[in-house]
Amino acid sequence: MSFKQENIHPFNHLLPRESKEQLLNQHAKVFWFTGLSGSGKSTIAKGLEEELHAKGFFSVVLDGDNVRAGINNNLGFSNEDRLENIRRTAEVAKLFLQNGVIVICCFVSPTEEIRNLARTIIGENDFKEIFVNTPIEECEKRDVKGLYAKARKGEIKDFTGVNAPFEIPANPDLEIQTQKKSVEENVNEVMSFVIPHISLLKSKIKNELYS
Ligand code: ADX
Repeated sequence: MSFKQENIHPFNHLLPRESKEQLLNQHAKVFWFTGLSGSGKSTIAKGLEEELHAKGFFSVVLDGDNVRAGINNNLGFSNEDRLENIRRTAEVAKLFLQNGVIVICCFVSPTEEIRNLARTIIGENDFKEIFVNTPIEECEKRDVKGLYAKARKGEIKDFTGVNAPFEIPANPDLEIQTQKKSVEENVNEVMSFVIPHISLLKSKIKNELYS
């Protein structure tokens, strides 16, 4: 590092998070999807975003493949790079959170260490972990991106579930078993979990009374 952290002086936000939440009529939270590649994280997140939008909630999706195509395009899949991928993402999620936005993150985030890093940056109260539990056999059967086939042939190193670990989350806030269920059913299950965390019930009722 060519500078001293002690010389950095972040200023406090001019408007508090609560003011933005009131404006948006919602509580901000981070919903963090973890699971194998091909488990359905992004598909569920897309459905969730659409449902939230339709109900008047403002959310943003941060997805591993997208984030890695841009801000994190200098990172690979070593444990160190995955940690940095998640550190930057969690910091971005926190910026949105502080501005009243609901954040949906989809990252393999394969180890407790990696998920704990995100939880610590975002804060225990605002971090909701959703484990998209799809067995590897099913992910491999789907193999939408053809990556499992490549990994089995040895063409991708450090591929989660094949030659890199995935640690089952010990205590997720929600676990979704996608197998044998439709996308719609999975999205509905997540929606039922999400809504109580983001609703500003009083102000919603107040709005209805005065509209
Ligand atoms: S994480 O481990 O750092 O959280 P992230 O979610 O950002 O991973 O990216 C995972 C996506 O990158 C996968 O969905 C897959 O499309 C792609 N990918 C490419 N190489 C790998 C790899 N070695 N391990 C896992 N995913 C990979």
